Amino acid sequence: MADAVGNINAHNYHLDVPPADTGFFVKGMGNTDWGLKNRLSRIFDPKSGNTVMLAFDHGYFMGATAGLERMDVTIAPLCEYADVLMGTRGAIRSCIPPTTSKAVCLRATHDTSVLFEDLSTGSGLALDFEDAIRMNASGLAIQCFVGGSGEAASLEALCRAADQGYKFGIPVLGVTAVGKEMARTNRYFTLATRILAELGANFVKTYYCEDFETVVAACPVPIVIAGGKKLPEDEALEMAYKAIQSGARGVDMGRNVFQSEHPVEMLQAIRKVVHEGFTGKEAFEFFTDAIN
Ligand code: R5P
Repeated sequence: MADAVGNINAHNYHLDVPPADTGFFVKGMGNTDWGLKNRLSRIFDPKSGNTVMLAFDHGYFMGATAGLERMDVTIAPLCEYADVLMGTRGAIRSCIPPTTSKAVCLRATHDTSVLFEDLSTGSGLALDFEDAIRMNASGLAIQCFVGGSGEAASLEALCRAADQGYKFGIPVLGVTAVGKEMARTNRYFTLATRILAELGANFVKTYYCEDFETVVAACPVPIVIAGGKKLPEDEALEMAYKAIQSGARGVDMGRNVFQSEHPVEMLQAIRKVVHEGFTGKEAFEFFTDAIN
């Protein structure tokens, strides 16, 4: 087996060379089937190549997180401003009108709850693909704990989801989860995102970090960033801007939207960054104008 670490001084991410053109607008997905490409085109806007995903799946391990106590009240009205709705089948079936035209990315794994000390134990698939198809899912999100106690179980879930995803043409989103003790460093995210892509994830969610362009360059499929804990709106927009500038193809944000006092305007401002090339500062000006 090769060295686990290798010669870290020898890395060359070829940042001046664009990703290979595989004949389809989503990075690394040119050699996949029509159905998978069609679903990817519901997730990533073919015009900008990017996506604004609204994450409200937190309840699957956190319970009634602030802002998600009543998803029918707080989340349903936001759906029209997102490209993709990312939630559990329980939340979506019970709280989101089926008349929505938005793509759905189902949270497809279950993990230990916040009542447990170790949040990185990982577990397994939370639904079968028949139900994902029944819910017209355009993607399935698999939580993976690279470096955590649940690494093997969660990567097994990812591999089996990728098998089924290719069978039925449903893209798999590999999610780089960070337990309480896990480092949020460039080195960690470069390693974790690459592992998820190599095991079959069609796109990967991670957190923004320093030198993010190397994380993006080393991952052969698109990366979207999670928002993390609630930040002031200007800081969250700046983070989204820096991520897009570094090559991320979108965001999958939750708390920075639904915990904002102005979630509609925040989501609209995020869209400006992700789809229209606004800087963080320009998007925050848009936000402040919109709320006044
Ligand atoms: C992560 O485990 C959650 O499932 C969320 O989907 C993810 O963290 C994105 O939400 P937020 O922007 O609130 O971090």
